[in-house]
Amino acid sequence: MREQRAVVTGATSGIGEAIARSLAAAGMTVVMVGRSGQRLDDARERILAAVPDANLHLERADLSLLGEVRELAGRLSRDPLPDIVVSNAAVVAELDDITPEGIQRTLATNHLAPYLLLRLLIGPVGSRPARFVVVGASPRGLTRVPVDLADLNYQTGHGLGPLPSFRPFAAYGRTKNMNAMFVYALARRLDGTRITVNGAHPGIIKGTGLGRDSRGALKLFGAALSLFTPGPDAGADTPVWLATSPEVDGATGRFFVNRKQVPTAPHTTDVHRCDRLWNESARLVGLPPEL
Ligand SMILES: NC(=O)c1ccc[n+]([C@@H]2O[C@H](COP(=O)([O-])OP(=O)(O)OC[C@H]3O[C@@H](n4cnc5c(N)ncnc54)[C@H](OP(=O)(O)O)[C@@H]3O)[C@@H](O)[C@H]2O)c1
Repeated sequence: MREQRAVVTGATSGIGEAIARSLAAAGMTVVMVGRSGQRLDDARERILAAVPDANLHLERADLSLLGEVRELAGRLSRDPLPDIVVSNAAVVAELDDITPEGIQRTLATNHLAPYLLLRLLIGPVGSRPARFVVVGASPRGLTRVPVDLADLNYQTGHGLGPLPSFRPFAAYGRTKNMNAMFVYALARRLDGTRITVNGAHPGIIKGTGLGRDSRGALKLFGAALSLFTPGPDAGADTPVWLATSPEVDGATGRFFVNRKQVPTAPHTTDVHRCDRLWNESARLVGLPPEL
């Protein structure tokens, strides 16, 4: 049997690196995607120190740039095709951090990149079985930050709260709700194929890079939380289980926390809202709405 091939985005630190290490330890070829060649090399060294026979390939791509996502999809679409794609990369960027393509960086990296990458891989994967896993965030915590479908790119920034240090985090939260909405919308469109797509909250995890630019009250809050939270290996558990376990064979369009299926907020499951997000995302990445 051919060795399984897994792609992990954001594999240069935190939960993504732990996911890559775990999949490599299970004997898979792992394609590690990151934006910095140096950070990819460093992560590969750390994984090889733990799993000496790990079969690792490095793919450099800045996922905040749609052009680089398209090129990455092109490279991943050659044989051998991926059996598993874990979309894990994410960032908490300032609201005025706009990419050269004119998109706010949190939206581009956390939602438009997985939207574009997974959509572009569907055709090449074709009739083969494959599992897509999208790493989201806490459904409970995200109930209060519904996606503003009229302001995806945070041009008004309405509804992100009054505290300047929390506003980028609220914007990040909206993109994490988009992850769940995308999972549901994509699963519906993949009905009848052998590709499954599910979402996972990794848990509140310390020792990752996500909060590195946080400031003010948010920084204090993060430091206090990290006293009680587990590290990246715990965060990798549910995504890896979704990517590999026979227990979830055929499961699709679901969201999981601690290996249990959980509901997400009604504003993420509303089919009309999911379709609006799908169509607007298609317009932003330059794809037709239909698969
Ligand atoms: N930690 C938590 O408590 C927590 C809670 C809920 C959900 N999550 C989710 O877990 C996932 C992993 O987060 P983490 O906590 O492990 O944070 P992290 O250590 O900062 O990992 C994020 C990864 O994404 C990569 N990345 C960011 N921007 C990128 C870009 N433009 N192009 C390519 N790669 C990019 C980072 O690369 P660099 O190494 O170059 O920065 C890093 O490898 C995220 O989806 C996050 O939303 C985490």
